Amino acid sequence: MKKYLFLMLALSSALFAYSTVSEANQEIINNMLSYEKDGNTHLGDLFVYLQTKLFENAYLFVIVLVPLVFFIHYMIIGPKKFKHDGKKYYVFTLFNRIIHGIAAISFIIIIPTGLIMMFGSTFGGGEFVKACKELHAVATVLFMISVIPMFLMWLKSMLFTGEDIKWFMILGGYLSKEKKPVPAGKFNAGQKMWFWVCTIGGVMMIFTGATLYVQDLNLAVLTMFGLSKIEMLRLCIIAHNTVGLAMVALFFTHVYMSIFAIKGAILSIINGYKEEEEVAILHSSYYKELEKNKK
Ligand code: HEM
Repeated sequence: MKKYLFLMLALSSALFAYSTVSEANQEIINNMLSYEKDGNTHLGDLFVYLQTKLFENAYLFVIVLVPLVFFIHYMIIGPKKFKHDGKKYYVFTLFNRIIHGIAAISFIIIIPTGLIMMFGSTFGGGEFVKACKELHAVATVLFMISVIPMFLMWLKSMLFTGEDIKWFMILGGYLSKEKKPVPAGKFNAGQKMWFWVCTIGGVMMIFTGATLYVQDLNLAVLTMFGLSKIEMLRLCIIAHNTVGLAMVALFFTHVYMSIFAIKGAILSIINGYKEEEEVAILHSSYYKELEKNKK
């Protein structure tokens, strides 16, 4: 059943292939063109190139290719399964889980609505895409609530260490069916990467998104960096679309890992407990630390 779910996801992503510049972005571009009369144009050519050629293709590439790679991974290597009837470790507090839950809900809305805006004309544009734009903004408020607590609660465990290089060198052991202990602390290098992209990148997304949403913002930044309004808006779109691309790719990865690649992993962020075998294999140095502290 899950095989077909993946296949459907990959195929439905391919349906986006005929899209052109999105309605919502088009609206922003039109506004920019009217500002153009006021002068400054030097980001113009780069902007038009990125917006019309690069970003749409890059997003299309990510939403088709990433699920496809995971589908192939699932078919060939398959999920990692750990005993679920043994000892468990309490690893995520209630606070961790609530904050994570708020972020998860926000992204479940932000990502699809963002993609619908990017490929607005494929969805017939108009009211539907406009409604998605509003929903995208509302869900961003939810994300704003969660991003700072999330950053602070996990910051210490997310600092990169020497063993993260070893983790990257074996790609976390995900290319093998073997259950060999993997070098990782409470979070592995892949999870750390996701953390930094979703928090620092997330703040950038909030700032650039808010600037694009409220276009009349008379930001102090404008004068501070000597930017004109159109330059600021263009920079924001470029940054929003670039960071957004990384966030979409890593969000798909995070969901694949949590729901499909490691059977039952999702339970840990619901009830706070991780299976002993999963900790011992996937977070081997954290396991040693837990065992040592127990003694
Ligand atoms: C439907 C969406 C999501 C699901 C199913 C999900 C699932 C999970 C699970 C199971 C874990 C624990 C992983 C482990 O340690 O074994 C986790 C951790 C985490 N989640 Fe999520 N999550 C989702 C959305 C999000 C979003 C939107 C964010 C951030 C904006 C996020 C950020 C994190 C971070 C930073 C961690 C700790 C590091 C990691 O495990 O990757 N998650 N998530």
